[in-house]
Amino acid sequence: MIVLLGATGYVGQAFGRALRERGHAFAALTRKEVNYTRFDVLLNYLRSARPSFLINAAGYTGTPNVDACEAARAETLEGNTLFPQTVAHACLAAGVPWGHVSSGCIYSGAKVVVDGEIRIEKDLTRPELKPLILNGRSAIHGYREGDTPNFSFRAPPCSFYSGTKALAEEAIAGVGQSYLWRLRIPFDEFDNPRNYLTKVQRYPRVYDNVNSLSHRADFANACLELWEKDAPFGIYNVTNPGFITTRQVIAMVQRILKPNREFEFWANDEEFYKIGAKTPRSNCVLDVSKLLATGVKLRSVEEALEDALRNWKT
Ligand SMILES: NC(=O)c1ccc[n+]([C@@H]2O[C@H](COP(=O)([O-])OP(=O)(O)OC[C@H]3O[C@@H](n4cnc5c(N)ncnc54)[C@H](OP(=O)(O)O)[C@@H]3O)[C@@H](O)[C@H]2O)c1
Repeated sequence: MIVLLGATGYVGQAFGRALRERGHAFAALTRKEVNYTRFDVLLNYLRSARPSFLINAAGYTGTPNVDACEAARAETLEGNTLFPQTVAHACLAAGVPWGHVSSGCIYSGAKVVVDGEIRIEKDLTRPELKPLILNGRSAIHGYREGDTPNFSFRAPPCSFYSGTKALAEEAIAGVGQSYLWRLRIPFDEFDNPRNYLTKVQRYPRVYDNVNSLSHRADFANACLELWEKDAPFGIYNVTNPGFITTRQVIAMVQRILKPNREFEFWANDEEFYKIGAKTPRSNCVLDVSKLLATGVKLRSVEEALEDALRNWKT
């Protein structure tokens, strides 16, 4: 039996569906029924239930977005840094292998090859990078699992949310038998305020940047597959291979959904951060070659987006 924490959440629901589809028996715990955020409660539960695996899809993300975490710093730190350590040590003590939903939002930018040299570029909106992003995809490389986070408390600026996610990775990496699955900007075909494809259609003005993205069901299935195939524990970037600009996503929305509206974009970062956002946003490209090397197969980000939009359900 598998234990699923945070099953009521946006990511947890995808794990619930994937577990059912893959035929795994699981117990979906809610804090209301079993307060799994307390070490003693969780440890006692694990010792008596003796699950074969635990999935931690619980955490504090802020509603409607990470700006809310700036005003709820204690909850953000508790939910994203302290709580994962509680889970890590309870699982270690009970001998239960587990997986934690981490985030790619601990990075900014990508590695860019210019004149044969590879360098870190934190801001992919710089105009001189546009031709490389649009035409020279081989010049853009994502961050790998071992790269030090560059959008964290140790490498500011960052959002408070990202800082807490990066600290959690530091604190739990190597404790017991754990996977750290890095999710990035979830989307799928189900209209939902948490779905990136819903968000881009509802923003009065859209912020253009470059990102790797995760199809929600692809993410949950890939995470489970890692465990099913006994892949080595550790950190994995779990995004659909490739990257895409927000403008390209909007072009797909216009081509496939044909909405009866025009889309406006923020003129630049200065305008977006002055009016549209309170805290810095992570925009980044992740490298998924470690995940693919295990034999887990994932569709490209373009394919997954095309599929989600063609099957769009409101
Ligand atoms: N959504 C994203 O864009 C995104 C991107 C990257 C990573 N992640 C990570 O994925 C995980 C789940 O995110 P989500 O978007 O599914 O969040 P969500 O929809 O808000 O759900 C989180 C769930 O966690 C549980 N929980 C436990 N402690 C909590 C706390 N202190 N505050 C709030 N909820 C708490 C709640 O379940 P019960 O109370 O029912 O037990 C809640 O339903 C988080 O670790 C998040 O950092 C999310």
